[in-house]
Amino acid sequence: MSDKPKRLLLGITGGVGAYKAAELARLLVKRGIDVQVVMTQAACQFIGPATLQALSGKPVFTDLWDNRIDTGMAHIEFTRGVDGVMIAPASADFLFKLAHGVADDLLSTLCLARSCPLLAAPAMNQQMWSNAATQRNVAQLRRDGVTLLGPDYGVQACGEIGMGRMLEPEALVERIEAAFQPKVLKDLSVLVTAGPTFEAIDAVRGITNRSSGKMGFAVARAAHEAGARVTLVAGPTCLPPLSDATVLPVESAQQMLDAVERAIDDVDIFISVAAVADYYVLNPSEQKIKKDAHILTLELAPNPDIVANIVSRPNAPFCVGFAAESENLYEFAELKRRRKNLPLLAANLVQDAVGTDDSELVLFDDEGAHPLARAPKQVLARQLIAHIAKLFAAHQQSPSAP
Ligand code: CTP
Repeated sequence: MSDKPKRLLLGITGGVGAYKAAELARLLVKRGIDVQVVMTQAACQFIGPATLQALSGKPVFTDLWDNRIDTGMAHIEFTRGVDGVMIAPASADFLFKLAHGVADDLLSTLCLARSCPLLAAPAMNQQMWSNAATQRNVAQLRRDGVTLLGPDYGVQACGEIGMGRMLEPEALVERIEAAFQPKVLKDLSVLVTAGPTFEAIDAVRGITNRSSGKMGFAVARAAHEAGARVTLVAGPTCLPPLSDATVLPVESAQQMLDAVERAIDDVDIFISVAAVADYYVLNPSEQKIKKDAHILTLELAPNPDIVANIVSRPNAPFCVGFAAESENLYEFAELKRRRKNLPLLAANLVQDAVGTDDSELVLFDDEGAHPLARAPKQVLARQLIAHIAKLFAAHQQSPSAP
């Protein structure tokens, strides 16, 4: 995120989930976000404004006619200069108001008068959520460009089980930060590879590596946050599926190359994060190999180099490589960047990166090395995307550069 603190208007409507809005406000403030809380009268039945005032460090407003507002134009003033409005929880009634442009209290009026992005975290009984009327309102809001976060499936305050729980505050904070990311790749098409590849030895065994896929998934997510259309070609990982990208699952390096080649037309930026196995097994057995007392020899043949293949195409997209080295990071990474003819290569030490949630990264480009401090992979992925966007824009100006 940029240095200037982001400003968020947090709107709380009437629902049991309102108590979670207190934790949400606390987490947002902790992340350096400037939070202004506005509550509906119904929300005040569930949680007191004093709690939100203490947590946000600012007066909380509930009334359109509140005479603490100097200009008397709260419905307009409150959303001027804010980066987003987040409604959490968003009740069924409030979704109706948003979908129909009803402006009969402070919160609904300022939502109508805003020009910034609107996010809403629906929370209600599962029957209310699945009701056709609510679903009509939800569909309308999506068409209107409102970002709906959740709801979640689970046990509800009323004891029923189903869709309707508000997303947990931590998850909402992640989604809010994602929405705040600058749209530096708006309308561009980005292809990312992630995870390890798996080269079969027989029906059950294979050669793979310890890549978790976390960095590649984080890069795909960060590209989506930056406004790109993202395709992710993913080797086998244990990660939850990504909803922000078209995901093409593959196993072997050859399958990964085939998937990349099928998807590459019209791609602007190719980010090759995958830890591709350098060799595959010649003549893998279709059946499980039985154990015996003899030495088993595997014959290995080199895999195609996917990124090298793409770089050498006519009209190649802007290509970014990754490297995990176990020693001499700066020297090996820069050599690899030059050997692969890449304008940008992101590198780290294997021992710092494989399987972990945090990592360190050094970006190598024509200007030299740019170390990024240790941080969660999602944060590093956002920094990498910002760097790619800068180089990509420069590359568009002088496309003859590598
Ligand atoms: N890469 C690729 N296809 C391969 C091997 C690597 O596309 N068959 C890509 C990786 O996705 C990464 C970059 O090339 O972006 C560097 O990968 P790495 O495994 O570090 O490089 P290698 O060329 O395999 O070199 P070495 O294993 O000898 O370090």
